[in-house]
Amino acid sequence: MPRTVLLVALAALLAGCPDAPRPAPWREVPEAAAGAQRERALAARDALAGRLMARLSQAIADGGPAAAVSVCQVEAPAIARQVAAEQGVAVGRTSFRLRNQLNAPPAWAAPLVEGRVAEPTYVTGPGGALGALLPLRTQALCVTCHGPPERLSDDVRQALAATYPDDAATGFAEGDLRGWVWVEVPGP
Ligand code: HEC
Repeated sequence: MPRTVLLVALAALLAGCPDAPRPAPWREVPEAAAGAQRERALAARDALAGRLMARLSQAIADGGPAAAVSVCQVEAPAIARQVAAEQGVAVGRTSFRLRNQLNAPPAWAAPLVEGRVAEPTYVTGPGGALGALLPLRTQALCVTCHGPPERLSDDVRQALAATYPDDAATGFAEGDLRGWVWVEVPGP
């Protein structure tokens, strides 16, 4: 078979079956339209942010910020799983500058993350699910581990370099948009 024919055949094959159902797109909705699902998203955000903050402050008080780096690594995902299970949602943290690539945003949130939306933003999607992207600002405590590299203590810098060789999550100042909590609430 001539190569061009083969390529055309291959392209046709890859184009796939035209009747396959496409996933419904996510579209932005005004805050007021997000209703009761919005309340659930905010409750999940509060639980995740509150518990994480309490654990971080405790870990820093107990062992200093360098020791708290591993607490954040191990406990942040565990707390997110716990809140998700308790509240029947999916929840996580993300950013446009990631420390851990595992915190990449879900597909519906990616364009909003790219656009660095600084206000709470809501989208609806398949089955009436609600996606919420809720901004996290950099507080004084956060600068200890997310501030400009030259302002981090040596032991924090070393702890970060050992665990996150591709860390992009330094250089933030107090008040900066650091990232978001994202929440996915299932449809009614
Ligand atoms: C003790 C050091 C430390 C402090 C203090 C700290 N973080 Fe982090 N942060 C980390 C580590 C480590 C990770 C990566 C966690 C992981 O592996 O999932 C992280 C990840 C994140 C992420 C997820 C996105 C990413 O970059 O992977 C966000 C958002 C975030 N931090 C925001 C904050 C905010 C807001 C504060 C202040 C309230 C804060 N952090 C305080 C160490 C810290």
